[in-house]
Amino acid sequence: MTDHATSSVTHPSAPSGSGHNAGAAYAGCPVSPEAVPLSGIAYQQSPAVVYQEMRRLHGPVAPVLLDGGIPAWLVLGYPELSYVTAHDDLFARDSRRWNQWENIPADWPLLPFVGYQPSVLFTEGAEHQRRSGVISAALEEVDQFELGVNCRRIADELIDGFVGSGEAELMSAYAHPVPMRAAVEMCGMAAGNTDTDDLVSDLRTSLDASEGEDPVAAYVRVQERIQRLVKDKRAQPGPDVASRMLTNSAGLTDDEVVQDLISVIAAAQQPTANWICNTLRLLLTDDRFALNVSGGRVSVGQALNEVLWMDTPTQNFIGRWAVRDTQLGGRRIKAGDCVVLGLAAANTDPQIWPQGDLGAEGNGAHLSFSNGEHRCPYPAPLLADVIARTAVETLLERLPDVVLAIEAEELVWRPSVWMRGLTSLPVEFTPSVQ
Ligand code: HEM
Repeated sequence: MTDHATSSVTHPSAPSGSGHNAGAAYAGCPVSPEAVPLSGIAYQQSPAVVYQEMRRLHGPVAPVLLDGGIPAWLVLGYPELSYVTAHDDLFARDSRRWNQWENIPADWPLLPFVGYQPSVLFTEGAEHQRRSGVISAALEEVDQFELGVNCRRIADELIDGFVGSGEAELMSAYAHPVPMRAAVEMCGMAAGNTDTDDLVSDLRTSLDASEGEDPVAAYVRVQERIQRLVKDKRAQPGPDVASRMLTNSAGLTDDEVVQDLISVIAAAQQPTANWICNTLRLLLTDDRFALNVSGGRVSVGQALNEVLWMDTPTQNFIGRWAVRDTQLGGRRIKAGDCVVLGLAAANTDPQIWPQGDLGAEGNGAHLSFSNGEHRCPYPAPLLADVIARTAVETLLERLPDVVLAIEAEELVWRPSVWMRGLTSLPVEFTPSVQ
């Protein structure tokens, strides 16, 4: 999951008190009793091994169990995933057609990701093209040079905050805030005021709450803040993404722009943060990437691309829902079945790397930004590349002798089946004055 989802979701049947019942979930469902739970510690530390085993046992489309034993299909094969994402007439995005809603409790942990929202994420056909077209048109006018300059300033400010101490935890102090600040500024919020800082913090809480934080309350504040932004930009448009979405001739309502702006900002944050983090981890732990200022800079592009193949931030994404009975990878898929996009598994499909040599240098044919109608919309991947590349290069330039503060084997991956990222990335370097 890109963690693109938010908490503003509806449960189509929302039966009060309908607790989970795995037996009921299987009833009438084609998913076999050998279905693999899509969770667990093996996933956390080495998902590639889990995918390999699933592929061996089940082929390119594996029966899996989501949280609470809810059945779904995980698409592991590159050709099969390309097919699913290219055929939105057959595998569509509106989750209200799911045949499992009666088994989903109201407090199901994945509800924020699959519960229908009236945003670009869940629209289909002409309506999706209208909404997605407005986003692409607004993003296309982002000046990539200016974005790079802004990211450099944001990165410098964050590094200034810890450069004197000789140590930092880069996930919270750097990898998360760089894309978040870049995204809210791109959408038209002034940099560096407490209002923007509060939004950045609330967005993080609503997407990835720590213990004791209330993601729903944080999301309500995010919504209120974006509603105010939309009202202000309606009154006085500026050279920013929010204003361009409002003035687009497609005539989106204010509510639609609020929904889609939140989708854009949330979509930009988690995957880009984990792309930065996973690239820094690769550079800091792999001997092939010599870490000095010149060596590091030369290999940053290569490391960013290798991460998209080997440790892609959105390792799995829910999803698509079958429009009618069909077949996929030798499986019978029933109308309303949930299909999870196994982006990481597809990228490492032995069918496309027959020699077992994942020599990904310069090859951009991975599925990390998905594919088809609902793929990460052009030019978002290019903007994400500017943000991630600037963040990584600036850090290497400012902290030329940065090293991990713990052994590489001690790094802990987040216990998420959806996002591939570390819980923390502690580093050390020679302290310096700003
Ligand atoms: C500036 C940064 C980014 C922006 C503004 C952005 C924006 C978006 C938006 C608006 C969507 C929804 C598309 C739709 O449903 O029609 C989306 C989907 C997606 N994005 Fe991004 N994104 C960004 C960065 C990334 C990164 C870094 C990755 C991973 C490497 C990524 C992977 C995806 C994936 C896998 C989807 C789901 C596509 C699907 O349903 O098939 N995005 N993104």
